[in-house]
Amino acid sequence: MSTFKVCALDEIEPDSAKRVDVDGHRLAVVRLGDDVFVIGDRCSHADFSLAEGEIDASDKTIECWKHGSSFSLESGEPECLPATKPVPTYEVSIDNGDIFVTAEEAS
Ligand code: FES
Repeated sequence: MSTFKVCALDEIEPDSAKRVDVDGHRLAVVRLGDDVFVIGDRCSHADFSLAEGEIDASDKTIECWKHGSSFSLESGEPECLPATKPVPTYEVSIDNGDIFVTAEEAS
């Protein structure tokens, strides 16, 4: 396991998402108010960026813009087809205005 800095919190507008490639991981960093969720950016259905999808703040999901699967920001599970597999989720911490995640080593 390793912990690494993703970006500064204020680089992401509230209720928006940003793709960040760091340390061999391709991440979708989603900010809801002052809460931050980090999931794998690559949709599990095909190689499209989840960070470009639409966020539902009340359901805590992000919808893949390509074919419409919504993924839970908490579990990474898809909530509707066509995706059937989860995307990775990451443990997030915020320290001094910076976002950190803890992840397995990238392979
Ligand atoms: S690429 Fe995301 S649902 Fe198809």
